[in-house]
Amino acid sequence: MTQLSLVERTKQALVDENFLRGDPITGDRYYSKEFMEKEWEHLWTRTWHVGGTVAQLPEPGCVITAEIRSESIIMVRGDDMSIRAFYNVCQHRGNRMVQCEETKVKRLVCNYHSWCYGLSGDLLIAKDSEDFPQGSPVGKVNLKELRCETFGGLVWFNMDPNAKSLRDSLGIVADQLEAYEMDKMVRVMYLTGEVECNWKVIQDNFNEAYHVQSLHKELGTFIDDHYQNTAFEIFRNGHSRMLMKGALPAGNGKSKKVQAPLDAMMRAWELNPDDFEGRAGEVRVALQQQKRKLGEARGYSQYANLNDDQLTDYYHYTLFPNMSFTMAADSYQILRPMPHPTDPEKCLFDHWYFVRPAHGETKAATPLGEWPMEAAKHDVFKHGEKSLGWVADQDLSVAVAQQKGLHSRGYSDSYLANQESRVRRYHEVINDYIAGRI
Ligand SMILES: [Fe+2]
Repeated sequence: MTQLSLVERTKQALVDENFLRGDPITGDRYYSKEFMEKEWEHLWTRTWHVGGTVAQLPEPGCVITAEIRSESIIMVRGDDMSIRAFYNVCQHRGNRMVQCEETKVKRLVCNYHSWCYGLSGDLLIAKDSEDFPQGSPVGKVNLKELRCETFGGLVWFNMDPNAKSLRDSLGIVADQLEAYEMDKMVRVMYLTGEVECNWKVIQDNFNEAYHVQSLHKELGTFIDDHYQNTAFEIFRNGHSRMLMKGALPAGNGKSKKVQAPLDAMMRAWELNPDDFEGRAGEVRVALQQQKRKLGEARGYSQYANLNDDQLTDYYHYTLFPNMSFTMAADSYQILRPMPHPTDPEKCLFDHWYFVRPAHGETKAATPLGEWPMEAAKHDVFKHGEKSLGWVADQDLSVAVAQQKGLHSRGYSDSYLANQESRVRRYHEVINDYIAGRI
């Protein structure tokens, strides 16, 4: 049997024409508690979520926790080096076991009555175990395990015991992402901001690039942001990607000189921006050739897996239900609005930025300037107190006002451009989950 190429398999994974039903995107989806609970029951508890990075769990006994709504999940590296996930709750009386985001332990011990579990979740010691009329809980009442897998240097969990494997759930996206060698990248920026809007306000924003020219004018100096030059691919499994040309100024560079930050990108690869005065449209291909020539010696082994376009362009994925991965050749970012524990009109917006360290680099260029090339600590704050990255700040500048507008009696549905088809499609997939069609 001949193996189909990735390009062929990508084509096969696309939705068919006329894929939209036209389900209305009504305002209540963004503020009703009833809809929020439907999402919890049918969506969040059935899909794969990223809980952290594999790099956070280097040795047996390393533990991380992740929260999704009011649920807390423990992920732990076992003595057998496998990573397991458990609900963060003692089986004795329901106390939360691990109270911090990251720790290292020999055993998992509840601080209430000292029940002691092994790293694989089995109860090893219960005080006064002879005093239980129903028999000793030891070896019987173990931590409740849930599905846990790794992909791309990330630890993922799923609360649905019957869910497809992570690999099957990502489908074609996993095959495409593998080329980037994400597991060799370091999370140098690790931010979470509480924002006063429903999680879908932010996810909708990442499902279209129609807003880029109005909200992110600065990106036009190095990204070709016109929709007719951008490819949109929507996959049947609910995920999608958008291919945007980088190192190519919008309109092919109206200014004669190559502008910032493209000039700095060129210098980093031993190209002189002055040589391209009046020819900014040629920079993209020149940079691709230069990266191809110098990349391997600089330690970028992933370049061998990437096509020429991927060396300069941004492949922006939206992964159902709530993640965006923006992939570049040497870095990627995760943008993720998590649902708030109780309030449908708030969310917790994660911005993680990963960089591939080249030989000997101690600094990484991030959306917030140069940061140390090392795993960052988690910084959690309220939107507006600090920057979440300048592009994300621009996106969020409309999110709160939109949340208010969605309440209006004057709003009944979105009126979408073709280039925003992913927005309606996404809501239709949510409806499919809620109605039990997926
Ligand atoms: Fe944006």
